[in-house]
Amino acid sequence: MAKNNVSNGQRKRLLKAARQAMKRAYAPYSHFKVGAALLTTTGKLFSGCNVENASYGLTNCAERTAIFSAVANAGPQLEIRFIAVVNDQGVPCSPCGACRQVIYEFGPDAIVIFQSARSWKETPISKLLPEGFRLR
Ligand code: THU
Repeated sequence: MAKNNVSNGQRKRLLKAARQAMKRAYAPYSHFKVGAALLTTTGKLFSGCNVENASYGLTNCAERTAIFSAVANAGPQLEIRFIAVVNDQGVPCSPCGACRQVIYEFGPDAIVIFQSARSWKETPISKLLPEGFRLR
């Protein structure tokens, strides 16, 4: 199977982990709970939720929580293969611009699984973030 195709098993595992993480979200301001789960190229799974703050701009999205948790637990060499995002309202929710750049940092070939306006999508990060910034 091609490197970037998500298998049914991987998709199921990612969405289940993202939904579990979503339940732990801290979203007292927006009431919009988000969960994310990622699978690394070596098969490790990590998840995260959004963590809001009374100073709204300090909010951390679910995607970045998952990625920072992955780095904290597996070290900085990890590469994201897939990252899935879910929310508790079943509405379209693609990663914000900041999260796209962070996904790109740890997975320039990552596939992002998210709900778009019409359907669920599985889109390369390079399409969501053309010409992502790199220093090395
Ligand atoms: N949020 C995420 O966690 N991920 C996204 O992809 C979109 C937005 C969070 C941030 C904030 O806690 C809430 O959703 C409303 O913007």
